[in-house]
Amino acid sequence: MPLFCTEGLFFKYEGGRGNALADVNITIKDGVRTVIMGANGAGKSTFFYHLNGVLRPTKGKIYYRGEKMPYRGKALRNLRSDVAVMLQDPNDQLFAPKVSDDVAFGPKNLGLDTQTVDERVKEALYLTGIESLGNRSVMQLSYGQKKRVVLAGALAMHPKVLIMDEPTAGLDPQMSKELIELADELHHIGTTVIFSTHDVDLSYSWADEIHVLRGGRNIYSGDSEGFYDNTSDVYLSGLVEPAMYDMNVSMSELVGDPAEPYPKTLPQLVAKAVPSENPGTVHILPADGDVDPDEFSSLISSTGSSATGVYGTKARKSVQISKLPIDYFFGADEGCILESMHGNDTLICCDKVLTDLLISKISRISKFGTEIPYSLL
Ligand SMILES: Nc1ncnc2c1ncn2[C@@H]1O[C@H](COP(=O)(O)OP(=O)(O)OP(=O)(O)O)[C@@H](O)[C@H]1O
Ligand SMILES: [Mg+2]
Repeated sequence: MPLFCTEGLFFKYEGGRGNALADVNITIKDGVRTVIMGANGAGKSTFFYHLNGVLRPTKGKIYYRGEKMPYRGKALRNLRSDVAVMLQDPNDQLFAPKVSDDVAFGPKNLGLDTQTVDERVKEALYLTGIESLGNRSVMQLSYGQKKRVVLAGALAMHPKVLIMDEPTAGLDPQMSKELIELADELHHIGTTVIFSTHDVDLSYSWADEIHVLRGGRNIYSGDSEGFYDNTSDVYLSGLVEPAMYDMNVSMSELVGDPAEPYPKTLPQLVAKAVPSENPGTVHILPADGDVDPDEFSSLISSTGSSATGVYGTKARKSVQISKLPIDYFFGADEGCILESMHGNDTLICCDKVLTDLLISKISRISKFGTEIPYSLL
């Protein structure tokens, strides 16, 4: 059963020139990392407005989990509590004067009791790194801070589906990385995450499936490689090939190897180019609460780790509180795997709930030529 399915979807804005969406047939599957791509004006935002019933098609059909998209009553309220949308421009979405009130708006509307609403707000402000902004006026925030508030509002809904329109545009590099790590976390615990982006590198490393819009029509649905293999489609869609894709194709052609498997991350690319003879072990310390600094130091010595990292939002907060010595504060999965390829042992402090995900990322490197040993502490 698809999550969303559109059939011959057309949409024309009142007073708009021509169709903003024309004959769009897109199926989005539950639990599939989905990215919508396309140039400015291709129709991405318009498409997203259709997925939570804000816009109604001029022609065509939309289904949510096999049922016709509802536009009123309880069914619409249920849809909106399942599907949270982070709009492209935070100014279109923020209206409460105070940050914490804005974040609380969604959960309150769900009819949750005050204590639960407060807990949700606290958690969402914490996950988006804006605990200190709770009492601030929304109007006085920077663009990126406003984006974080909108994201916090969406997270506070505990949605089953999170749709984000250009989520990283306007965010600083650390928050962009955190946001993608958060998207990984949400995906891992069963939330379907769908976003649009112009960042072809980000989309390439993250998406299982992409849908490309051009002039309001969807011209491609499938894996990224299938799209980037067709150079003229890429250029006609106002996009460019991701660096990782280009490097892999060039290297494969140079050495006469097949382009498959396609590396999506730096460690995968390095493993394919230079398989490691004697990789070090990645030691994983599952941690949700505070980690004792003395215990951490003795683990560094007993495992012989020459670098440390942290993976996951909760673990990152706990290492900050405990002031642990961390080398890879962001991107620890990739950083520590690369260290391992250099023959060094590493220690990663990892959110308990993300341990499986980290192990699967480490294990996946073997597909590219290097088996990375790991140990769960
Ligand atoms: N409120 C509106 N009234 C009339 N036309 C609109 C309106 N909003 C968007 N459009 C038109 O609809 C088309 C699709 O716009 P949309 O905002 O969905 O594109 P997009 O892919 O999200 O672009 P971007 O990458 O710039 O965010 C464009 O031609 C745009 O000019
Ligand atoms: Mg847009």
